[in-house]
Amino acid sequence: MPPPLLLEGELFPSSPGMLHRRSRRHHLMNRQIRRCSASTFFLIALTASYLSFRSFFPSSSSYYLRFGYSWDRLVRSSASPRRDSGISVLVTGAAGFVGSHVSLALKKRGDGVVGLDNFNDYYDPSLKRARQALLSQHEVFVVDGDINEAQLLARLFDSAQFTHVMHLAAQAGVRYAIENPHSYVRSNLAGLVTLLEACKSSDPQPAVVWASSSSVYGLNEKVPFSESDATDRPASLYAATKKAGEEITHSYNHIYGLSITGLRFFTVYGPWGRPDMAYFSFTKNILQGKPITIYRGKDGVALARDFTFIDDIVRGCVASLDTAGKSTGSGGKKTGPAPYRIFNLGNTSPVTVPKLVRILERNLKAKAKVIAKEMPGNGDVPFTHANISSARTELGYEPKTDLESGLKRFVKWYMSYYGDSNKGDTNPEESRQ
Ligand SMILES: NC(=O)c1ccc[n+]([C@@H]2O[C@H](COP(=O)([O-])OP(=O)(O)OC[C@H]3O[C@@H](n4cnc5c(N)ncnc54)[C@H](O)[C@@H]3O)[C@@H](O)[C@H]2O)c1
Repeated sequence: MPPPLLLEGELFPSSPGMLHRRSRRHHLMNRQIRRCSASTFFLIALTASYLSFRSFFPSSSSYYLRFGYSWDRLVRSSASPRRDSGISVLVTGAAGFVGSHVSLALKKRGDGVVGLDNFNDYYDPSLKRARQALLSQHEVFVVDGDINEAQLLARLFDSAQFTHVMHLAAQAGVRYAIENPHSYVRSNLAGLVTLLEACKSSDPQPAVVWASSSSVYGLNEKVPFSESDATDRPASLYAATKKAGEEITHSYNHIYGLSITGLRFFTVYGPWGRPDMAYFSFTKNILQGKPITIYRGKDGVALARDFTFIDDIVRGCVASLDTAGKSTGSGGKKTGPAPYRIFNLGNTSPVTVPKLVRILERNLKAKAKVIAKEMPGNGDVPFTHANISSARTELGYEPKTDLESGLKRFVKWYMSYYGDSNKGDTNPEESRQ
């Protein structure tokens, strides 16, 4: 069995409290060792602390890492396809909204899936843990770790032969960059490079499919947005990091022969969605009788979004994995050109935010208390609209769900998950529209 790892995250915590927790445990352990002169007693104490830690963190991968117990076996088993010609996929951001859906879809059709997520508290981590629990019921192992942890990534690639990486981990949200700009740099730039380094060094190299964003179209006014349009006027730091991600992945494609597919998602919504997004926080506030803020663009024009239902996005992600050409590098060197693709994944029928609210009101059987405000210039754009002809041709992508039926399914999930207590932690002022 390989020796237990010392992870970078243990030296430089990626989330508050991580270092503190670890050093306290270390301290306790040292005290135990000093006190126990007899080796038998030491072994008993160690077994007891191991068992109590296990019951405290039953599904945490850090437990397995720290104690070196069966971790590789779990990774290998979760990564093994259960069907002939199945693929083996490392899904980063697997406890996230899109990541959990994609992981489940792959596992259900018999592919091997291992998740990776740092469970940060950008929004309620208990929702991420609930998604993890759902994945665990379907035998998808989600590793508790950060894409910045190079040693952890190397260990994952050593333990399983991933044919594909579905990279969805990121600092999402547009307005949060005003509050915490460095979280975008850390996850969307530094983390992306660390992940690509691991992919390029792996032998064989996996094909990489990753989430860019419609936000790269920034201040463009020509609609619908096409992949060939200029993307050099981002309106937010989030958009700028996604645009930079497209350039960074291009350089790894060019130098190391990594097969790259970048997906520009357009406002994804649906069951198990993200509490920081407008449709989610509107639902919560309407149910609680609290006001919602609707922003208007220049001259009072309603904002519009090309809302795309999660199942359609999942089909686009899976089709991207299935059609991704092979990476050509070996031992960190390219042996020939590899594919580099970018696709819009949208719904191609933008809907205004006031219409979204009317649909929610109908489904929730409650009236919204609306506060209308001019859109602040802090990152949002007035409209999005995807041209999806490339995805149609290359991926066979065809969105099937309109906003009316998609929101119906979201509301059904919301009521069953939160019930009447409505504990979803959202702040309407912060919600993305
Ligand atoms: N949902 C949308 O409307 C939308 C639109 C455009 C692009 N995207 C992109 O799609 C991807 C998935 O988005 P989502 O809506 O599922 O967001 P999400 O926040 O629900 O999922 C992202 C997950 O990544 C994890 N994560 C963040 N930084 C990490 C790190 N450094 N290491 C490990 N894990 C980390 C988070 O804990 C989270 O669970 C993201 O890249 C996002 O930027 C989403």
